[in-house]
Amino acid sequence: MTQFDDLIRMQAAVQDRSILSLFDTADRAQTFSAQTGDMLFDFSKTNLDRDTMDALLALIDAADVPARRDAMFAGEKINETEDRAVLHTALRNLDGGAVMVDGADVMPGVHDTLDRMRGFADQIRSSDITDVVNIGIGGSDLGPAMAVQALSPYHDGPRCHFVSNVDGAHISDTLRGLDAKTTLVIVASKTFTTIETMTNARTARAWMTENGGDPAKQFAALSTAQDKTSDFGIDADQVFGFEDWVGGRYSVWGPIGLSLMIAIGPRAFDAFLRGGQAMDRHFCAAAPHENMPMLLALVGIWHNQICGYATRAVLPYDQRLGQLPDYLQQLEMESNGKSTLMDGTTAPYHTGPVVWGAAGTNGQHAFYQLIHQGTRVIPCEFLIAANGHEPDLTHHHKLLIANCLAQSEALMRGRSLQEASEMMAAKGLTGAELDRQARHRVFPGNRPSTTLSYPLLDPFTLGQIIALYEHRVFVEGVILGINSYDQWGVELGKELATSLQPIVEGAAPATDKDGSTAALVAFIAKHAD
Ligand code: F6P
Repeated sequence: MTQFDDLIRMQAAVQDRSILSLFDTADRAQTFSAQTGDMLFDFSKTNLDRDTMDALLALIDAADVPARRDAMFAGEKINETEDRAVLHTALRNLDGGAVMVDGADVMPGVHDTLDRMRGFADQIRSSDITDVVNIGIGGSDLGPAMAVQALSPYHDGPRCHFVSNVDGAHISDTLRGLDAKTTLVIVASKTFTTIETMTNARTARAWMTENGGDPAKQFAALSTAQDKTSDFGIDADQVFGFEDWVGGRYSVWGPIGLSLMIAIGPRAFDAFLRGGQAMDRHFCAAAPHENMPMLLALVGIWHNQICGYATRAVLPYDQRLGQLPDYLQQLEMESNGKSTLMDGTTAPYHTGPVVWGAAGTNGQHAFYQLIHQGTRVIPCEFLIAANGHEPDLTHHHKLLIANCLAQSEALMRGRSLQEASEMMAAKGLTGAELDRQARHRVFPGNRPSTTLSYPLLDPFTLGQIIALYEHRVFVEGVILGINSYDQWGVELGKELATSLQPIVEGAAPATDKDGSTAALVAFIAKHAD
């Protein structure tokens, strides 16, 4: 017996009804949507009705979501497996009050670091630096990389590049063509031990030295480990620290966002923080039935745990949000991809979904075929701005909007055999051939989607969007009984890579390895130059 059993029974009773028929109630679009500021979250194109929605909303209280939320914002150590507070919200608490951790207010430190970042960003933006290379991986890469691309219309600083993969191709391709004398390298690593990042950082330092740059002046570090940044030789004035209560995948709001701040300037970065703060305030104040992060989470629970849809697609109709699916993949899958609950028991239900996606309209010409006619149901989460940033290309934007809305409509509406047959008859087909051809043109429809819409993808709005998804992950985690803030599942692979390195280098035998791994090592060694 789980907290989901009643909902699963309710879902079974309504699973075959048409979502379109739910619009017989005139105010469905208004009732099954939420607004905060200028942002609209529409979840009316799902198979939720008042009863199932009430049952989902009951999960909020049953799981004590408001109390857990308040504990998070108050700096309690809700990351219990690492004994840490979870306070990325403090990084955007621009004009809020004190936030206490272990009896001390963390806000003076947050403001101090932010002021130092602003000073450094201004100095770089007015210097000869033409290019900034952020070296980091996971949360030390995906957030700033995604945000820098998302806010490219606001760039008025140096060009930004991101190197994450330990594959030498990544740093080699990035540094090629850059001038070592006018490049700033930012080493972004919470722990300053991540093997990919440290390997790339050493390679970048050697490149700079060999090509006339000065690593003593042109390297900065973003880390919680200031002893290690100093061992690496980075001047303390160019080190921006943060605390262990900022999780890697939640860290774009602080020093890890330095490349973004350099790209768009401190004022626009402040607007980004204010967007996040606005979503925090909404999350803390709105009643559950109007609370956007809670509703987004409940729709997620409905589709994953109740309906059993294993994946969700994030489909931004915004080329500049092309990296949002990757960013959310880490945010959601590293946070809620767990099998052990907070109390140490094994989860008796599926936990975090597989998150994937790509920018529309490109995805339409790649994987939408399966979304429309495949055998699996994939809930889709569309994002669309009312306006683009290209005043001369408004016709492009109208076309983009039409495509986005057309997809959610098509997913819901589908096309019946009758309609497909009429289409084929109009083309002159008859008999068995008409029937055969018509069957290929049937769309089952009744496929759920949600749409998040906002006026313009500006810094404030991007802040709102990221904070919305962060809180969605939190709410889902609390309902699932998971600690969303640890990531033990990435450790085993790191340990084994360390043990394999000497074997791959030929310095140790593969004797303790399984047959497959030993054979692969042997094959690669035989073919290596
Ligand atoms: O992949 C595991 C992880 O710890 C992520 O959570 C983190 O964002 C990434 O590695 C990078 O870690 P660091 O910032 O310490 O280099």
